[in-house]
Amino acid sequence: MTTDPLVLKQAVAQAAIDYIEPWLTPDAVIGVGTGSTADLFIDALCVKRQLFRAAVASSERTADRLRQGGVTVLNLNDVVSMPVYVDGADEINPALEMIKGGGGALTREKIVASVSERFLCIVDTSKQVEWLGQFPLPIEVLPMAVASVMRRALALGGQPILRTGFVTDNGNPIIDVAGLKILDAAGLEAELDHLPGVVTNGIFALRRADVALVAGPRGIETLLSH
Ligand code: 5RP
Repeated sequence: MTTDPLVLKQAVAQAAIDYIEPWLTPDAVIGVGTGSTADLFIDALCVKRQLFRAAVASSERTADRLRQGGVTVLNLNDVVSMPVYVDGADEINPALEMIKGGGGALTREKIVASVSERFLCIVDTSKQVEWLGQFPLPIEVLPMAVASVMRRALALGGQPILRTGFVTDNGNPIIDVAGLKILDAAGLEAELDHLPGVVTNGIFALRRADVALVAGPRGIETLLSH
């Protein structure tokens, strides 16, 4: 099998469709993530649109792509539960804890994931790490909290950079924090979320993935959270 990133992403997107097929039922609403891997999943999901009721999107970009593919997109406030949320990640460790938000959709991703019964993470092997933090940790903040949160990130040993020319779908800036070696992902996630002005940080450990499908040169590996 190839190591071409696009081919790996396509393979894992298709594997995700096969994995969630039992939950594609006439009443089902599917949670859908954001990013280049999620885009390929959306394309494959749209082919199956007759099998399920609708989707909830984690970004405007994802909502547009779903609608273009003929899938009904619901407001999360009109949905009580979803059998599965499918999304990519920027990093994933052996405990299936992740860093997300490279595409800036972390807040809506975390909310949609929280309402889903299962989190299915789809990645290629380039996203696998022993510990989180080699990818800069995105933090969405209210505009007036940029400087105070950056100072706090510095005090934690990180190197914060304001993402320039970018605001989230919620109209907020993102700070990317490089240089963190995150050994207690759930602890740091909770600590950062308690800083005044932080909307969401990109550690997904308190609600980690339940299953990861990992595409690599030898095929698709299925990892389960313990
Ligand atoms: C967007 C995300 C994405 O899941 C993450 O950035 C991975 O993206 P890609 O599949 O393009 O590598 O968290 O906010």
